[in-house]
Amino acid sequence: MGKQWYSSISDDLAEVDRIIRDTLRSDRKDLQDICDYVTSSGGKKVRPAMCILAHHACGGTRNDDVLKIAAAFEMIHDATLIHDDINDKSEIRRGRTTVHEKYTVTKAVILGDLMFAMGFKLMGSADTKIIDTVARTSTAMAESEFIQKEFEHTPIVTEDDYLKIIRGKTAMPIFACARAGAYIAGADEDTINEISWFALDVGLAFQIVDDVLDIIGDHRVTGKEVGMDIAEGKPTLPIIYAMEDPVSGSKIKRVFKKRNASAADLEKALELIRGTDAVERCLAKAKEIVENAVSHLPTIKESEYKDSLIGLARYIVCRDR
Ligand code: IPE
Ligand code: IPE
Ligand code: MG
Ligand code: MG
Repeated sequence: MGKQWYSSISDDLAEVDRIIRDTLRSDRKDLQDICDYVTSSGGKKVRPAMCILAHHACGGTRNDDVLKIAAAFEMIHDATLIHDDINDKSEIRRGRTTVHEKYTVTKAVILGDLMFAMGFKLMGSADTKIIDTVARTSTAMAESEFIQKEFEHTPIVTEDDYLKIIRGKTAMPIFACARAGAYIAGADEDTINEISWFALDVGLAFQIVDDVLDIIGDHRVTGKEVGMDIAEGKPTLPIIYAMEDPVSGSKIKRVFKKRNASAADLEKALELIRGTDAVERCLAKAKEIVENAVSHLPTIKESEYKDSLIGLARYIVCRDR
């Protein structure tokens, strides 16, 4: 599947990049170097895309305002990734050395904080309703990360626990992007809700696929190491499903429980997970969630932007990066 959704807003996304670069400025060369390192790496820009497309699909024409808000969401996302990579001990992101590996943990924490602050500054021109949504989202993200931590290396975790975790950490931020885009378009309450719930489902599917890519992805394409979740004992859906397997489940559980599993154990566990139907079940579930979401957009008028929004949702499920 092509990325037609992308071509309808590629200029806007380039502008988002420019706004972020302009916002992250320091007179100190060493700090500016790190800022440049982060802003020159290419993420997929799913969150700003969701914000901009939701805006236009709701008939919005406030291009300058929506681009600023979209850039704010991307900056806050970048900040969470910089901190997430410290917590997850990840060495590679977007095909390059992670910020903390390249510049030290201390500097990466500071840069993440700076990006949060500057993201909120960009958001500052927005209505208080948007700020409220972002604040609620930040709380949901923090709570979910705490719940996830509780379930690390703990095989009693269920699919419902998992869905609760990813709702807060991944779906809520994507929900907030769509909500903000629709809100500043001046859409009515029902339309805002419709597009936000759509985005929430897209966010759930997005994280399920991220977790699948951690099992079967190609690091040269995803730009991230594979197998990090089993190593860190992260309760992801493919791991939860694989632990239910009647043949390999107990062996996978044993590795999942270990805090310092050997490289050989991890490789073996990945191989066993790939041998179960876990990945297939996860992808079927992600697809079902997205198709259900796509069929629940009755209020949004047909337009090129609505098509792109649906294209973005479907891209989420079949992506390889
Ligand atoms: C990574 O997000 C974190 C998750 C919620 C899975 P992305 O996969 O959107 O990261 P980039 O921005 O494209 O690098
Ligand atoms: C997403 O989870 C983290 C955030 C929402 C901040 P992951 O830990 O799976 O993200 P990646 O795989 O490192 O990108
Ligand atoms: Mg991570
Ligand atoms: Mg991941």
